[in-house]
Amino acid sequence: MSVIPATPTIPVMLPWLGEEEAEAAAAAVRSGWVAQGPRVAEFERAFADHLGVEHAVAVSSCTTALHLALIGAGVGPGDEVVVPSLSFIATANAVTYVGAVPVFADVDPATGNLTADTVAAALTGRTKGVIAVDQGGVPVDLDAIRALVEPRGITVVEDAACGAGSLYRGRPVGSTARIAAYSFHPRKLLTTGEGGMVTCQDGDLAARLRRLREHGMSVSAADRHAAAGGAGVVETYDEIGFNHRMTDIQAAVGLVQLRKLPAMVARRRELAARYRELLGPLADGLVADPAHGTGNFQACWLLLPDGAPDRTEVLTALAAAGVSARRGIMAAHLEAPYKGTARLPLPATELITRRSLILPLYHSLTEDQQDRVVAALREAIG
Ligand SMILES: Cc1ncc(COP(=O)(O)O)c(C=O)c1O
Repeated sequence: MSVIPATPTIPVMLPWLGEEEAEAAAAAVRSGWVAQGPRVAEFERAFADHLGVEHAVAVSSCTTALHLALIGAGVGPGDEVVVPSLSFIATANAVTYVGAVPVFADVDPATGNLTADTVAAALTGRTKGVIAVDQGGVPVDLDAIRALVEPRGITVVEDAACGAGSLYRGRPVGSTARIAAYSFHPRKLLTTGEGGMVTCQDGDLAARLRRLREHGMSVSAADRHAAAGGAGVVETYDEIGFNHRMTDIQAAVGLVQLRKLPAMVARRRELAARYRELLGPLADGLVADPAHGTGNFQACWLLLPDGAPDRTEVLTALAAAGVSARRGIMAAHLEAPYKGTARLPLPATELITRRSLILPLYHSLTEDQQDRVVAALREAIG
């Protein structure tokens, strides 16, 4: 006899996708143009307008967006790039892809983000770039980091993978950066299944990024088609590029999701505020807005208090109560490819990665479900 649980497990996240996205994807399929084409161009324009930036270049993921951003920033072999270890490993990997060395800096224990002070401690004569992450959608204090490093000729790339919908000093996260990278993976608010975007203000840089995402072609396949079906337009390949393209099916979904983004942010912030009320003293460990902006609560993380049981025990107890939580943000310097490479002590990184867990938070989470999460957490922590 099978045992059917009385109440289904509450997932840690669920994308907010519906009929409108399904219709948009179907329309792209019916049009016959499924690779990068008119819908990608429309999504890029809409995303750039949403941010108030000049250029947006759609790619296959934030990882590929970071890869192109670093090439665009001129980072290569022999260079160092300061990154937080406290980030999804793709942040450090992108540096490794271009032959440079990721140098791990610590984070502010309150925000989980780099600060000018933690970056300063990691700079050397070889530093060519900094990747400033908006961890879990919490805006990083970009101005302070730029003011420190730009006079030394160092480029800051903003890894806004989690940041669509967050605000930094009243402006969309990423929009004030020289180069920013976004993710549209389903764990983010705005999703296209997989997908990403690079944004910048410089037209020449944007043109180069467009070529690099498409094998280095001087004229894109879509533009050749638009020019009288391609007759007479012969492309050249002037440098080694990549296939980092987004499809028109993804872009069609992205256009719908972008319209829904303000509602997603509002709902998440409402649910996060409700967690804060329900959690009582435990809420001291809940991620919060910094002084310089407002987050989208892409990841609603909680630092377990002193004296709480081990995190694995808490996660196991939550799972037994039908609540799917997750360990908090990883630390790249503790994983095999980067083990032993940290040059600096990273106490805040190690504390957060060891003691944090991510609570369920998504658009369709109900108040009843949230009550169940909090009850299970109280029970687990004791
Ligand atoms: C900070 C950060 N950077 C980069 C990535 C990679 O994004 P993608 O999965 O779109 O490649 C993620 C994914 O979670 C992330 O959190």
